[in-house]
Amino acid sequence: MRILSGIQPTGKLHLGNYFGMMRPVLELQDEGEAFIFIANYHALTTVSDPEALRNNTWDVALDFLACGLDPERVAFYRQSDVPEVTELTWLLSTLTPMGLLERCHSYKDKTARGMTASHGLFSYPVLMAADILSVQSDLVPVGRDQKQHIEVTRDLAIKFNNQYGPVFKIPEASIREASAVVPGVDGQKMSKSYNNTIEIFGSAKEAKKTIMRIVTDSKSLEEVKDPDTCNVFALYKLLATPEEQATLAERYRAGGMGYGEAKKALAETFNAHFAPLREKREALANDTDYVEDVLREGARRARREAAETLSRARQAAGLAWS
Ligand code: ADP
Ligand code: TRP
Repeated sequence: MRILSGIQPTGKLHLGNYFGMMRPVLELQDEGEAFIFIANYHALTTVSDPEALRNNTWDVALDFLACGLDPERVAFYRQSDVPEVTELTWLLSTLTPMGLLERCHSYKDKTARGMTASHGLFSYPVLMAADILSVQSDLVPVGRDQKQHIEVTRDLAIKFNNQYGPVFKIPEASIREASAVVPGVDGQKMSKSYNNTIEIFGSAKEAKKTIMRIVTDSKSLEEVKDPDTCNVFALYKLLATPEEQATLAERYRAGGMGYGEAKKALAETFNAHFAPLREKREALANDTDYVEDVLREGARRARREAAETLSRARQAAGLAWS
């Protein structure tokens, strides 16, 4: 089985990215042949400062390796080191109905928030389809917000295969329901664009400060509280053991515990979980050559697959002469 996922280098890794996409994909690295990449071509649709793009790309590389990506098993690469995906994007885009892209929520959200409606932003899902189809991935672990893009990918693969013959595997999204939408400190979906994130690799102090800002209802200390509707508890559930969760849930239901205390428990669990990863990340940051080697080797493996797929697609579409 082939597994592929990517993340845009557009800011600091947060708890939503970690549980929505990173953990699920890292858990799958043992199950098959995994490809994980840093979507820097995609990031160009929103990041126009070259220095920022370079730094963010490097940050994502360190984040993944610190969180346990095993480069022996996974092809880990920068999207722009596999230029075959851009050619495949063109082949796919000639079959892409405008209406399919016009319906994509992500594009509509981004333009509604004031982003310029560039052609790149509009055709973003076609590039994403090329990422996935170029390595013939079976499974694509993502958070729920990306589901529609995987459906576009499936549509395009089916269309291409119908028109030119069976070139592409039809991939499936893999969405972990328990963490499909991780809430941010304001209770909306956690997202860089909503400024409501809890960063994984900030300091322990910053994380605690952010956690103490999580919005709750205004119940007094004595009142009985409902863990199932509380943002603090929703995040605690992702990090704590089942026993720890049961203990805190009981305290919510018994009354006599304020939200401040629940937030402190969350901050402690959060920092205990991420402290060893922070240390690992610092060590990796001093080993530039190692990280660069990992990315180059990953690109070599991904390119081999992408070149093979592209050659079949070119042949099928009448773009090869021998
Ligand atoms: P952001 O919304 O912060 O810009 P991205 O769009 O870069 O995050 O998302 C990168 C990956 O993380 C995607 O697979 C996405 O589905 C996942 N993800 C992002 N935010 C969340 C969240 N709040 N809950 C679950 N998954 C998320
Ligand atoms: N669009 C994805 C996001 O914003 C990133 C991405 C690009 C991706 N290409 C992909 C994810 C292919 C999965 C598969 O999170």
